[in-house]
Amino acid sequence: MHNKKLHIITFGCQMNEADSENIAFSFKKRDFELTGDLKKADITVINTCVVRERAEHRSISKIGFLEKWKERNPGRKIFVVGCAAEKLGIKYIKSKFPFVDEVVGAKSLDKFDNVLSAYFKNENPDYKIPLNLFNSPFTAYVTIMKGCFLKCSYCIVPRVRGEAVYVSPEDVLREVKTKVSNGAREIILLGQTVNSYRHALNGKNVSFSKLLEMICKIDGVKRIRFMSPHPLYFDEGFFEVLKSDSRIARHAHLPVQSGSDKILKLMKRGYTRKKYLEILSKLKQAVPDIRISTDFIVGFPGETASDFADTISLLEQIRFISAYCFKYSVRTGSPQVKDSIPEREKEKRLEILLKTVRENSREIFKSRIGRIEETLFETEKTGKSSTNFNVETDSKQKPGETAQIEICGVHKNVLQGRPIP
Ligand code: 5AD
Ligand code: SF4
Repeated sequence: MHNKKLHIITFGCQMNEADSENIAFSFKKRDFELTGDLKKADITVINTCVVRERAEHRSISKIGFLEKWKERNPGRKIFVVGCAAEKLGIKYIKSKFPFVDEVVGAKSLDKFDNVLSAYFKNENPDYKIPLNLFNSPFTAYVTIMKGCFLKCSYCIVPRVRGEAVYVSPEDVLREVKTKVSNGAREIILLGQTVNSYRHALNGKNVSFSKLLEMICKIDGVKRIRFMSPHPLYFDEGFFEVLKSDSRIARHAHLPVQSGSDKILKLMKRGYTRKKYLEILSKLKQAVPDIRISTDFIVGFPGETASDFADTISLLEQIRFISAYCFKYSVRTGSPQVKDSIPEREKEKRLEILLKTVRENSREIFKSRIGRIEETLFETEKTGKSSTNFNVETDSKQKPGETAQIEICGVHKNVLQGRPIP
């Protein structure tokens, strides 16, 4: 008998990617194999997102799309999980899509394994945690914080992911060790405000920087990334470890959202433009070549042309390596539920923003020429730099190892280079 096949469709953020990995693990323990081909699948899991209206629509319409897939073979099963399942509720999803077999909301995903136990009896508890489900074969996610304690006024995440809970250092270290012993070389620590991490261990407080130090001591860890930090939660200890251990990636994704103090206040972000710039300069003081990427929202209620001009000027002031740009999308369940900027105006602003991002990005890629990029190779010829660029070389490297690559060109947003002896 052939193994049953599982297909997973993931929308949304890296939190969801991490959840999908855990879901896949639960299925693999029960002798399922992953397939990228829906036609071959016996079970499909849709891991949904609701961060913006579009993400929610796409998640939901995917459920509808699977009705035909199931009709072709009624033995097939459909699982709907994640943020839309949480927001809309089991009842709603089952009534709107009666062909769905199981609904598990984002807050209940740590109990996903129990849900599956009801379905399957022949478990294989010795199954090794699989890596390489979705990402590089050497990258593993480790969630150190669930939920969120902030109340950014545009955001629905606290509602669907719940109160902030930190994973204990013991559990984090155990998970890192397991994943490293299964082949991981790069660990991505995940949390909504990942750098606010704090937890007691033997009566002492373990801060984010302390946790980084502990992870750095684990043999086999070649790189640590973290997603997403919040500008307000870097402390002095963090700048110290960042400076002293180059295994901590020379890149931070630090969402700014807007360049206007008025809008930042309305968004309840807790920092001003000046404060954000101060934090960036501290990061650069610690590691001059650190690269920063960010997120922007345009068209937040009350955003005037002059507020938007502040966002553009921030973008011109800071050479972000990349920026994800979004039109404000009203989310019921978030603190801010009014929308005041017409759609056409939002679109116009988004276009201007994206154009500026693109222009900057060309310059940034060019500016890497002549530099040395520490690169973790995923294949013999391709890898990712510590600064978060894709890198390619024409001489063979050892996958899973880092090498110093001198950049001599750029091709389609990939840095081209050769190893330095
Ligand atoms: N509308 C538009 N963008 C949003 N984001 C979060 N909520 C909204 C919203 N309601 C963006 C933010 C955040 C990223 C993950 O999604 O920029 O950093
Ligand atoms: Fe991630 Fe937010 Fe989307 Fe949930 S709603 S998947 S937390 S981006």
